Amino acid sequence: MSACPADALQPIRPGNLGDITDVHALNERLLPEAWSLKALADAVEMGSELYVWRTAAGMLAAYYLGQDIADETHLLQLVVDRPFQRQGLALALCRKLIDDKRQNGVQRIFLEMREGNHAALGLYERLGFDIAGRRAAYYAAQHEHPREGALLLTLRL
Ligand SMILES: CC(C)(COP(=O)(O)OP(=O)(O)OC[C@H]1O[C@@H](n2cnc3c(N)ncnc32)[C@H](O)[C@@H]1OP(=O)(O)O)[C@@H](O)C(=O)NCCC(=O)NCCS
Repeated sequence: MSACPADALQPIRPGNLGDITDVHALNERLLPEAWSLKALADAVEMGSELYVWRTAAGMLAAYYLGQDIADETHLLQLVVDRPFQRQGLALALCRKLIDDKRQNGVQRIFLEMREGNHAALGLYERLGFDIAGRRAAYYAAQHEHPREGALLLTLRL
């Protein structure tokens, strides 16, 4: 892993509706189950949490979207744009998330992911997430992604 290029990035900050166009563009390019612009905007308007991480020049490098329900956090989306991948951004973003959630009394973070997503599985296992379940053939075939099962991952805080 090369060094995290933190000096070329602004601090991670809470996102808002002004970030949604860029978030939507990144989600469309990187996620097989991309959300529409409206779905993303509705989620933020209804209280889902967005963190954005932009370069000094303002380009969106990474974001997190999640939802807190009672003492649980549901990680909905985590995306790092390709030129910034494998430089520790997702690890840093998730560590910040985990610290924030611990401080706010959250007991558990959970997420669902495609079982063939080796990058995501490597990331979450490194952060200490456990595989809590599997749902066969949960995700439809999309572009180059086959129909495949979902893994349910959890992290106890
Ligand atoms: C998954 C994703 C968020 C990882 O972001 P990233 O910033 O590149 O990850 P990091 O650089 O912080 O990597 C941390 C660790 O995760 C694992 N990892 C990350 N990318 C990997 C890959 N392509 N293959 C295998 N392991 C990988 C490694 O253990 C890595 O540590 P290392 O680089 O020291 O080996 C990114 O690949 C991405 O946005 N993918 C598309 C969207 C997506 O699948 N999101 C997750 C949906 S749940």
